[in-house]
Amino acid sequence: MFQRIKQDIEVIFQRDPAANGVLEVLLCYPGLHAILGYRLFHWLWRKNFRLLARFLSNLTRFLTGIEIHPAAQIGARFFIDHGMGVVIGETTQIGDNVTLYHGVTLGGTSWKAGKRHPTLENGVVVGAGAKILGPITIGANARVGSNAVVVSDVPANTTVVGVPGRLVMPKSKPEPDTAFSSYGQNSGTMVDPVAKAVTCLLEQMRHMDERVKKLEHEETTSDHTRRHP
Ligand SMILES: CC(C)(COP(=O)(O)OP(=O)(O)OC[C@H]1O[C@@H](n2cnc3c(N)ncnc32)[C@H](O)[C@@H]1OP(=O)(O)O)[C@@H](O)C(=O)NCCC(=O)NCCS
Repeated sequence: MFQRIKQDIEVIFQRDPAANGVLEVLLCYPGLHAILGYRLFHWLWRKNFRLLARFLSNLTRFLTGIEIHPAAQIGARFFIDHGMGVVIGETTQIGDNVTLYHGVTLGGTSWKAGKRHPTLENGVVVGAGAKILGPITIGANARVGSNAVVVSDVPANTTVVGVPGRLVMPKSKPEPDTAFSSYGQNSGTMVDPVAKAVTCLLEQMRHMDERVKKLEHEETTSDHTRRHP
């Protein structure tokens, strides 16, 4: 657990250019306070001190504005920037190197017991205000744009934006954690799949147009030959 806590602190320097020193990070990062609390409350939850875990978790929510259910599973090097208004539900599973901004909800869409919250694989970045709802999976290194509402699975290494979330970019290769880009911006070129599909259709139409013209020309030539043999 202490190794995890050390990593949670170190990762802030990698992902927030505004972080100036360890003391500042320890005092001024509610996201860090929330995750440190969560690491302890999750341990209490697993030891069956469930009411205590939930009660302390609720106190942390009061102080940070971040609600993390102690039963949620969160991997290493987790970072919540700014924090206020973040909700992480009971059956959420989060991999390593995941980043959330303020106002993010990892919520359920059903009251049925069992898995009802999302799974975020390694390296996912979720922009401010985004809602990810239901037992869906956000693939490794995917980016969720700010204020997006995502209700279905997202493939790895892609970006979704809007309401409901739509895919705007298949990334060619995942970025290693060391190349983390603050705010989830993509460093490469963005390919919109809808624009790509429209381009393919236009290309197909141009091809057919050329064939029709060629056939018309052949028809006219053979007609002319028939009339003037
Ligand atoms: C989604 C995101 C990761 C994409 O960044 P990017 O890879 O640099 O992509 P671009 O800025 O080139 O945008 C690509 C397209 O998506 C659109 N887009 C980007 N972010 C969007 C969003 N949040 N909602 C809707 N559309 C969005 C752009 O308008 C653009 O559309 P176009 O191709 O039709 O012009 C980024 O815009 C984002 O939302 N990051 C989260 C930032 C954040 O929450 N910061 C909080 C700091 S406190």
